[in-house]
Amino acid sequence: MNCLQDDEVLDLPETPSRACLAGLLDGGGPDQRLFDAAEARLRRDIGPRVYLRGLVEISNRCRKNCFYCGLRRDCASVDRYTIPPEEILEALEGGYRLGLRSFLLQSGEMLGKDHIETVARLLRECSSVIPGSRMVLSLGELPPETYDMLREAGGDRYLLRIETSSPLLYRRYHPDDGVHSHRERLKALEYLRSSGWQTGTGVLIGLPEQSTEDLADDLLFMKGMDIDMIGMGPYIESPGTPMPELFEGIPAPGVRTLRTLRMIALARLMMPGINIAATTALQTITPDGLERGLMAGANVVMPNLTPSRYRENYDLYSGKTEVRDNPETMIAALRRRCGETGRKIIMEDPGDPLHFLRRMEKGVDR
Ligand code: 5AD
Ligand code: SF4
Repeated sequence: MNCLQDDEVLDLPETPSRACLAGLLDGGGPDQRLFDAAEARLRRDIGPRVYLRGLVEISNRCRKNCFYCGLRRDCASVDRYTIPPEEILEALEGGYRLGLRSFLLQSGEMLGKDHIETVARLLRECSSVIPGSRMVLSLGELPPETYDMLREAGGDRYLLRIETSSPLLYRRYHPDDGVHSHRERLKALEYLRSSGWQTGTGVLIGLPEQSTEDLADDLLFMKGMDIDMIGMGPYIESPGTPMPELFEGIPAPGVRTLRTLRMIALARLMMPGINIAATTALQTITPDGLERGLMAGANVVMPNLTPSRYRENYDLYSGKTEVRDNPETMIAALRRRCGETGRKIIMEDPGDPLHFLRRMEKGVDR
C-alpha cells in the first residue's frame, strides 16, 4: 500500500497509518517525490538554513554492552580515553572562534560521580568561555537527579536515542543482563522530555531482522513523544562485535541508505518544526550521505571537534568519516557542500528547533 497522491507534492497526513509508512519505507512510492516534499516542507517552515553542532567525544568508556557497538564494554581492543577538561574547553573554544554556537558533549554511559561532576564543571565554565552557546549532552541513561543537576549546571539539550521503539527488538540487540532495559531507557527519555530539556532521540536503521513496520512504529513513537530533535542513522557493521554471529542477513548498504533517507523525509513531514541531523553514520555508509540527507529534509550537521589524537578511538563502527580533518577545513568543506545543495550554513546561531520555541511560547512545559 502507498499513500502518495497524484498531485505534485506528497500530501501526507501528520500522523500517517503504520501500513502507509511501512509501504513508503519499503520503497512503495516514488522516492524523489517523497524527498522533494520533505525538503519543500523544510524550506517553508525553517528555510534553507543548516545548523552546525560542534561534537566533542569526551570519553569512549562505557558500562554497556550493546551488541552492535564498537565501544561496548567487552571490546577489549579499544584504547579507552577520557579527555582532560582543559583539552575539551580548548576544542570548544576553537569551535567558538570559527562561529559555532552549539556544542555536543558525547561519551559512553558512565554512572561514576567523577565523570558527571567533570561534565557539570565544564558546563559551568562554558557560560563564560563560549557565551551564548547551547550545550547538548549525550551521556546515556542517568538518574533523574543527575539530569536535573546537569541542567542546572548549564545543559540545554539532551540526546538519548531509544535505538528501537520495539521492546522485543531492543531485547535482541542488547544483552539480557539487567543493565540493558528498554523500559528504563524509555523512562529516562520521558523524564528528559518532561523536565525542560530540549530533547532528542533516534533509532538505528537497517538492523538485521528489523522490518519496515518496526521503522514505521519508530516514527510514530517519536511523533508521540513530541521530541525536538532527531539523530538517526544506518546501522554499520563494527568489527569485533557479536552482531554477525547473532544474526544473518544485514540489509545491503544501499537498502540501509535509502531506508535512512526515507525515515528522514517522513520524520520531516510528520514533525515539521524539529531539527534532524544528517548523521555521521549516514555520511559514512555513502560518500554523498550529507547532501542526500539534507535533500531529504535534514537541517543539522555535526562537525567533529574531538582532538585528533583521540578521534580514531571513538570507533562506534568501521570507517567513521572525518578522522583526519581539522575543524576549519571541515567547516569550509561543509559550507561548500551545503551550498551545492542550495542550502546555507548559519554561523553564530545556536539553531534552536522551531518546535521547541513554539512549545516554550505556549508555556506548557516549564
Ligand atoms: N552503527 C551505527 N550506529 C551505531 N551506534 C552504535 N553502534 C553503531 C553502529 N554499529 C549509534 C547508537 C548510539 C550512538 C552513539 O551511536 O545509536 O546511540
Ligand atoms: Fe555504550 Fe552507546 Fe555503544 Fe551502547 S551504543 S555500548 S551505550 S557507547
